[in-house]
Amino acid sequence: MSVQAIRTGYIRKLWPSDEPAFRDHLLRLDPESRHDRFAMGVSDDFIRNYAERCFKLQGSIFGYFVEGELRGAGELRMIGDDHRVAEAAFSVEHDWRRRGVGKELMSRIVRAARNARVETLYMSCLATNRAMQNLAKHFQAELHFETDEVTGKLVARRSPTPATQWKEMVDDATSFATAMVDLQRRTWLPRLGR
Ligand SMILES: CC(C)(COP(=O)(O)OP(=O)(O)OC[C@H]1O[C@@H](n2cnc3c(N)ncnc32)[C@H](O)[C@@H]1OP(=O)(O)O)[C@@H](O)C(=O)NCCC(=O)NCCS
Repeated sequence: MSVQAIRTGYIRKLWPSDEPAFRDHLLRLDPESRHDRFAMGVSDDFIRNYAERCFKLQGSIFGYFVEGELRGAGELRMIGDDHRVAEAAFSVEHDWRRRGVGKELMSRIVRAARNARVETLYMSCLATNRAMQNLAKHFQAELHFETDEVTGKLVARRSPTPATQWKEMVDDATSFATAMVDLQRRTWLPRLGR
C-alpha cells in the first residue's frame, strides 16, 4: 500500500455491524463507477438490498476506512457448496483512487481466496474497464488472467501455506477488535453529543 494511503486510512475485514457503512459506501459511487462495479446501471434500492444480502452470504469483505468512513471495498463471494469457485469485486470512491487502495484490497482477496482453496476466481469486469484490468495484471504471479468480452477469470496458481493462513487469522482477530471499537464509537459518540 502506498505511504499516503497508509497515513490516511486502514484496511480491515468487515463484519455484519459494518453493513450500514458498506451500504453508504456503495451508495456514494457515481453512476459510472456503479456501472463498472456491477457491470450494469443500478438504483439506490438495488444497492440497499444488495448490501443487506451481502453479509448473509459465504465469503469475506474487506474495507478501506478513512476517519471512520468506508471509502473502498473488496468482496469475495463463494459460489456453490464446495467453495472451489468464487467471485471478486472491488470499489474505491473517486477521491481515494490511484493511491494503491485497490491493489491492497485485491491482495487481501487473493490471500483469502488462496487460504480458502478457491481454484477459480471470477470478476465481472467490463471490456472497457481498463483500471480493473490493469489492477488484475499486478497479480500475474498469483493468478492467471483470462479475459473475454465481460468476464475476467483468475485461476489461483499457488496453494495456501501456514504463513498465509496464520497472517489471515491474525488480521481477522485484529479487524474484529477494531470493528467493535468502531461500532462503540458510532453508537456512543452521537449519544454523548460528540
Ligand atoms: C478499479 C478500482 C477498484 C481501482 O482502485 P484504485 O484504488 O484506484 O487502484 P490502485 O490505486 O490500487 O491502482 C492499482 C493499479 O490499477 C491500475 N489502475 C487503477 N486505476 C487505473 C486507471 N484509471 N487507468 C488505468 N489503470 C488503472 C494501475 O495499473 C494501478 O497501478 P499503478 O498505480 O502502479 O499504475 C477503482 O478504479 C474503482 O473502484 N472503479 C469502479 C468500480 C470498478 O470498476 N470495479 C471493478 C469491477 S468489480
